[in-house]
Amino acid sequence: MKGTLITIEGGEGGGKSTQIARLHDYLIEQGHAVIVTREPGGTPIAERIRDLLLDPDNDDLVSMAELLLYEAARAQHVGELILPALHSGTIVLCDRFYDSTVAYQGAGRHIAPADVETLNNLATCGLEPDITILFDLPPEEGLKRAKGDTAGDRIEKEAIEFHERVREGYLKLADEHPDRIHTIDALKSIDEVSQDIRDIIDSALVTQEA
Ligand code: TMP
Repeated sequence: MKGTLITIEGGEGGGKSTQIARLHDYLIEQGHAVIVTREPGGTPIAERIRDLLLDPDNDDLVSMAELLLYEAARAQHVGELILPALHSGTIVLCDRFYDSTVAYQGAGRHIAPADVETLNNLATCGLEPDITILFDLPPEEGLKRAKGDTAGDRIEKEAIEFHERVREGYLKLADEHPDRIHTIDALKSIDEVSQDIRDIIDSALVTQEA
């Protein structure tokens, strides 16, 4: 595979979108071909699945159906967009990928890790990110930022304990994959976080090219 898959992960309200836009501009300035995409979503079909998943009225969605919908959106996204882009040598900057499922459906919803892993493998055809940036911050702070004055989407509306488990799930993943997952303190200023990300990406891309 010629391209590079960079995934951006973390709980709610970590400021991923701002940083993804900045990283995109930075990589373009460096002369790379880059696309920005997201999960769930990234293609018309996967975006329709996203609407179902985040609709706050879908309170009745059971955990296994939720997991399968995230994986269905992912399978479509990987097959239609990510794999062809990587084959053409593009850097794919993806807002969330399968680590989200390990953290939210595995740690958050208590679905067996082996089942999550099996489905992640099926949906991605075994594709793994080259570099993952994890935005870490306390869930109370993140939820305050993400929801503002609104009630929040279907996931944001979950109890704080759910979001605490998600955070722990992510930190455990980062421990297990120290070469791939780089944890960032999302409470730092926007400029400091941008600089941290550039440093990580610069050295990871150099290592990859060597
Ligand atoms: P966001 O990308 O705008 O933050 O919204 C996506 C929401 O879906 C977010 O609450 C995390 C959640 N999610 C999962 O629960 N599992 C997944 O596999 C993915 C990709 C996202």
